[in-house]
Amino acid sequence: MDDARHLVASARKLLILTGAGVSAESGVPTFRGPDGLWKRYKPEELATPQAFQADPRLVWEWYGFRRERVGACRPNPAHEAIARLTLENEDARLVTQNVDGLHELALEEAVTEGLCSETSVSRAAPIRLHGSLFWTRCTGCDHRTLDRHPVDAKSEASLPRCPKCAALLRPDVVWFGEGLDPEILKRAMEAAETAEVCLVVGTSALVHPAASLPLLTKESGGVVVEVNTESTPLTDVAMFSLRGRAGQILPRLLTVESEP
Ligand code: OAD
Repeated sequence: MDDARHLVASARKLLILTGAGVSAESGVPTFRGPDGLWKRYKPEELATPQAFQADPRLVWEWYGFRRERVGACRPNPAHEAIARLTLENEDARLVTQNVDGLHELALEEAVTEGLCSETSVSRAAPIRLHGSLFWTRCTGCDHRTLDRHPVDAKSEASLPRCPKCAALLRPDVVWFGEGLDPEILKRAMEAAETAEVCLVVGTSALVHPAASLPLLTKESGGVVVEVNTESTPLTDVAMFSLRGRAGQILPRLLTVESEP
């Protein structure tokens, strides 16, 4: 832990890559593992463009359920430690696969507590690889809207519609079989290439291109530090792999202790 902490603190450029595990202690279910969402639900029935075309009501019902569940969750000490670090360090970048908005909420809470300004919050905002549960995108004109309201998925007629062109809205998340937004991926890859340290937190590292970002850091001469409750395909690549819960490890890992 001490060696990893010094390494992270001394990195001139730092990339933090997070996955569902960082939100597990907030009560957000992960995707894989014994209690994971993909154990109970089939991704091909709920998280593909084909599924939405076949039954938009069912897909919206599932996203409405997740929005409601996640909407009741609060950031945990891991989100808070990451928010503090990215607000304080202009050279730290956060890239997340999570669609739950908890990193953003931790930043907003820092503003409310008077710890930082709105300007530093927009600089520290996460690069969201897989979109957000709380944004919608129009299937007709691509118009995007922030929408935290409950979803009425009783019937197809009650599903959310575009305020501009009245076409059906869809959740603004990346589904299986869809590519990532090229501009977002470019920003994430640039952050990975220039990072001296890539800190990977709570991801099974099975979904690409997200899982390739730490490899990009390593190929560019940087090092990888992993925090996870289990080993992953990145464990062998990492210089340090810290085994345990993100909410317990990150506050210690990211706190610079003053020398005695
Ligand atoms: P996964 O559910 O695949 O992996 C969660 C990881 O977090 C696992 O490696 C767990 O061991 C670890 N973990 C669980 N609790 C933890 C804790 N308290 N502290 C630290 N680690 C913990 O989630 P992701 O890797 O994020 O994509 O999944 C990647 C993508 O697959 C998601 O973004 C989603 C999914 O299908 C899309 O929806 C496009």
